[in-house]
Amino acid sequence: MSDSNPRLVLMGPPGAGKGTQSENIVEEYDVEHITTGDALRANKDIETEYGTPREYMEAGELVPDPVVNEIVVTALADADGFVLDGYPRNESQAEYLDSQTDLDLIALLEVGREELVHRLTGRRVDPETGENYHVEYNMPDDPEVRDRLVQRDDDTEETVQERLEVYEENTAPVIDFYEERGLVERVDGDRSPDEVWEDLDATIEVALDDG
Ligand code: AP5
Repeated sequence: MSDSNPRLVLMGPPGAGKGTQSENIVEEYDVEHITTGDALRANKDIETEYGTPREYMEAGELVPDPVVNEIVVTALADADGFVLDGYPRNESQAEYLDSQTDLDLIALLEVGREELVHRLTGRRVDPETGENYHVEYNMPDDPEVRDRLVQRDDDTEETVQERLEVYEENTAPVIDFYEERGLVERVDGDRSPDEVWEDLDATIEVALDDG
């Protein structure tokens, strides 16, 4: 393993489990979790020269590159090792990232479209803790928490379908960009979170040992 902490990118379509598995990576490898989605949700209404992030996010579209690149470059400056979640999302962001840092691994979580729609439309979020739940297979025991759960604005059926289209059009080509460099490892994300983690963790270990 190299002396510095790992520099990882977790890719995959909306709902593939990037946020869920990033938490495991942070705990295991002691790296920063850099997530453009969370950063943008925390700043949805800031005025930029392109409008507010909210306008793009609620339509399921990508927020303009300069806004997102700025978030990432600021976070990278403070990070000794990281897992990037939700970035890069198009080729121009990938090229920008390339100009800023080296990477050890791109781990790609693969999940079929039907399961993605099911996960996202059923997701509920605790606004107080940010914790994710699911209406069918993962609800909190505490009735107080259950009562305050909300649906993310972009988890409606229509917006989820748009996000998946945007992924296919903009983000899937980024995988080819990294594949040409031999950086991509695919992980079957269509299993329980623990099973996915076991495989992902082993994949990261191998990549770091080889690196
Ligand atoms: P972002 O927040 O990044 O959303 P996303 O990529 O669409 O991904 P999600 O957070 O919805 O899913 P996830 O893969 O993290 O899955 P999760 O672990 O939560 O981006 C939102 C928006 O911000 C974008 O649409 C865009 O507008 C903007 N944006 C962000 N980054 C940008 C960028 N770089 N450039 C431009 N714009 C950008 O899991 C999902 C659900 O499934 C949860 O309920 C979870 O509990 C459940 N689940 C997870 N794993 C499993 C499993 N193995 N089995 C069963 N259920 C599971």
